[in-house]
Amino acid sequence: MTTEPAIGGEETLRTAIAAELGRARHRSIALTESVDDSDLTRQHSPLMSPLVWDYAHIGNQEELWLVRDVGGLVPLRSDIDELYDAFQHARADRPALPLLSPDEARAYVRGVREKALDVLDRTRFRGRRLVAGGFAFHMIAQHEQQHAETMLATHQLRMGEPVLHAPAPPSASALPETTEVLIPGGPFTMGTDTDPWALDNERPAHTVFVAPFLLDTTPVTNAAYAEFIEAGGYRRREWWTETGWAHRSRAELRAPLFWESDSDGSWWRRRFGVVEPVPADEPVVHVCAHEAEAYARWRGRRLPTEAEWEKAARHDPIDGRSRRYPWGAAEPTAEHANLGQRHLRPAPVGAYPRGATPAGVHQLVGDVWEWTSSVFRGYPDFAAFPYREYSEVFLDSGYRVLRGGSFGTDTSMGRATFRNWDHPIRRQIFAGFRCARDVSPGEWA
Ligand SMILES: [Fe+2]
Repeated sequence: MTTEPAIGGEETLRTAIAAELGRARHRSIALTESVDDSDLTRQHSPLMSPLVWDYAHIGNQEELWLVRDVGGLVPLRSDIDELYDAFQHARADRPALPLLSPDEARAYVRGVREKALDVLDRTRFRGRRLVAGGFAFHMIAQHEQQHAETMLATHQLRMGEPVLHAPAPPSASALPETTEVLIPGGPFTMGTDTDPWALDNERPAHTVFVAPFLLDTTPVTNAAYAEFIEAGGYRRREWWTETGWAHRSRAELRAPLFWESDSDGSWWRRRFGVVEPVPADEPVVHVCAHEAEAYARWRGRRLPTEAEWEKAARHDPIDGRSRRYPWGAAEPTAEHANLGQRHLRPAPVGAYPRGATPAGVHQLVGDVWEWTSSVFRGYPDFAAFPYREYSEVFLDSGYRVLRGGSFGTDTSMGRATFRNWDHPIRRQIFAGFRCARDVSPGEWA
């Protein structure tokens, strides 16, 4: 069920949507204009598309949904649909396609946006489910922001001088009082029926029973992760799952991606072209799910399930309701969470006391995506909307769920129902983790 605005609210919604679309475009332009045309067309990693593909694909999705479907207008460029269909060509093959040049791509996305804004001006946000509550416009703004994060990951893989700049994140102002908290057992409402921005995989709201468990109050830090490496973490098979060990051996994993060790054993990392010592108190980032699981087992812990993560992030034990954000209903600000590429790195643990849950779990949203132990599945009564390729084709296919968003995730995806998924071996995404454990009999009685 999508929310339908009162007639008087239509103009407010229209203005808000235009602002969201503008914010997304501002970011995509910054990510594409910060490099030259050869950098835009080059493939910086076989895992990623050339930046110019992402950019034109953003325009193409906007054309398909807002201009053609919602607006009923004739295509601007139906000849390029196939080139920018993510299901037609693997990322590794995209550089060889006859893609639009950077100038053609810029002109195309500009032309699409002009038409999309005309459509926005005359759309009534009622009736058809695709437009009710502005859904299609929200979806397209989020799609652009999701590709902006993908483009940010491409920037991280790009070699060369730094081209992106941002202030350092806030420093730790209040470390959590304890290293883990008890999340009481019982039912909670997972997912949503009412969030106007929620995508099909976040729906419907349903009750899930979660047994009591203990959750770390912060993500695992670089210092803690370095201890795991020093303890032989990458050499000791007993801490890895069978699949994880096979992957670690094949991929010759030795440390998080982008880390290098000095002769004296100190760790350095490359971050958006800057080589710097690995900061001890930041959440570890660029580890795969197998590394996260090995670390957790070494510490006598495990990864939380997706339901455990969402319960810790949303459930209010006082009124029994599920919140939109760990801190409540307020939209994320710079004081709540490290989102939206405001900074080009995770913030130290303890940097966002205002973003903590009432139980004292910090930084669930922002900084780093958090690997969970759950495979990406549809919620009970899942219904694909508006197209199967958004979520449905990825369900039950071994993708692992990540939660909470990273420093590169836009605030519009900071809601605690948002679900991300990827192959458990992926490390180029801005992913870290936190640990959980079962409650031992007699403990916390
Ligand atoms: Fe896409």
